[in-house]
Order: sequence, then C-alpha cells, then structure tokens
Amino acid sequence: MLAIDEKTITDAALDQMAATPNPRLKEIMASLVRHLHAFAREVDLTPEEWLEGIKFLTAVGQKCTEFRQEFILLSDTLGMSALVNAMHDRRAVNSTTKSSLLGPFYRQDAPTLPLGANIATKGKGPQTAMYGRVVDSNGKGVPNASVEIWQPDDEGWYDLQLQDPSQMDLRGRFYTDAEGRYYLRTIAPTGYMIPMDGPVGDMIRAQKRHGYRPAHIHFLISAPGYREVVTALYLSGDEHIESDTVFGVTDTLIVHVKDNDPNCPIPNLPSIHYDFQLAAVAGDAASGRVGADPSQIVKKAEGAH
Ligand code: BEZ
Ligand code: FE
Repeated sequence: MLAIDEKTITDAALDQMAATPNPRLKEIMASLVRHLHAFAREVDLTPEEWLEGIKFLTAVGQKCTEFRQEFILLSDTLGMSALVNAMHDRRAVNSTTKSSLLGPFYRQDAPTLPLGANIATKGKGPQTAMYGRVVDSNGKGVPNASVEIWQPDDEGWYDLQLQDPSQMDLRGRFYTDAEGRYYLRTIAPTGYMIPMDGPVGDMIRAQKRHGYRPAHIHFLISAPGYREVVTALYLSGDEHIESDTVFGVTDTLIVHVKDNDPNCPIPNLPSIHYDFQLAAVAGDAASGRVGADPSQIVKKAEGAH
C-alpha cells in the first residue's frame, strides 16, 4: 500500500537510491535529500516559493559562459566555498597556509614568466613588488614550486571580465628558485564589487549587502608531493576587510605594503612580503580548488551530454 505524504516521502526517496553502487555518491545524495526535505519542512515551503527557487537557479545556470561562473559566485556568496575551504584546511596533516577563495576569475593557462617579471602588462596603477618563499612544514624552501598569481586592474576589473581570451593581463605563473624564493612586480590591488549584473547580484541587493571584496591578490601554489594551496592575500586597512561579501579574509592572510624593505629583491618599490607554506600530500586530495577556470567547467558540462 503506497502512502506518500509529508512524513513518509523522505524515506521513500532514500529507499529508491539505496542501491547506488558508489558509496560516496550514495552518502552525499542521501544527506542532500534529508537536508533538502528538512529545509522545506522548516520554512513550510509553498509551491510559488519553490518555483521562485527553480527560476533563480535556472537564471544562475543561464548566466554561465566560458568567461563567467555564476554558480561559483553563488557558492562564494552563500559562504559555501569558505566552508569547504575550511574543512579542506582541517584535513591537512602538517601546518599550511590557509585557503581562500579561488573565485570565478581563475584561468588555468596563464603565461609562465621569469622571476622578477611584471604581470601588469598595461602598467596602470601604483607599481608594487611581491616577494617571499614557498616552504614546507619544516620551513625548508621548496624549489621549483609553481606560483600562479591573478588580480584585478586598478579599477577592480579582471581581464576575464573583458571577455576576450587573447587579452591576458595581471596574471602569470612563476617557479621558485633553488631556495624556494619567488619575486615579481605588479600593481597594488584595489577592492571591487563582485559581479552584480546577474541573479547573484539580485540576491545580494535583496539582502541589503554591500557586495564588495577588500583589496586582494590571488595565488595558487603547487609542487609535486605537496597539496596545492589556493589562497589570497588581503591588504590591511581596506574598509571592507571585516565584511568581505564572500568570507575570504582570515587574519593570517592580511599583509602590509612596506616602503623601503631592505630584504626585497626588487629595489625602490613599495613591497609585500609573504611566505607560503605547503603541507605534504597524505592520502587526501592534492587539489584545493573550490572551482575552476570557467571555460573548463562549461567544457565539462558539454562533454557530459
Ligand atoms: C574573486 O576574488 O575573484 C572573487 C571571489 C568570489 C566572488 C567574486 C570574486
Ligand atoms: Fe578577486
């Protein structure tokens, strides 16, 4: 006798999924269904409200292109990316630099540049040097580590927002020297508003949030045998440092721009110094990416058809 009602529907849905052969998929989907049903019960969800939710998610998907990832933006603004990052950091077996958001503007094919090069190809904005080391959990330099960096221009725009893949600017990949050192030139980053012209922007406005991110520079650091670190450095003094719209700021990621630092290998420029620490890979996922280059996500979705 079938009796699907408000009380029995959750078990009925779980029963139908019970034969899922992949145990992790089974666990994730069962938990998702339980929490989704609990959410609907908690807010006593109406059909109109459910349809609004479906329309919203449809608009989020329709906004995605090879240059734009509205779902990453949604994950970021709901605090989901920061939560997944924090759990990833907790699983590290040695101490490591804290993660921060990959965000929607990472590109995986940034040019490899020699140490000391300038990533600001258009040269607008105040010149700044960035230097430090990539070290292991004992503080020993990691040679030949890949240091990917990306940031917005002096008006707060990333090259990706220009939607012309041939126009790479303010991004690059460097490899550390024999002592694990890296150094490069860039421009001082400015804070900016997250993309507000899509459904996520509508949500942010409906919630009366300001939509700003404090000034920051993104990094993806990796080396064979270590779990990669996806992070960002935040400039002290920014007015939104305590209220980042996407919850990326942690105290240990706040940096100061110094004048006349005698240790900076690039002289006569204001500079930022930061040492990144990598933990060993120990049976866990080496990747720390909550997201990807938007073009790769679109490609994968098309490939799945
Ligand atoms: C970013 O820092 O690039 C970013 C992160 C989350 C949302 C929007 C932008
Ligand atoms: Fe950013």
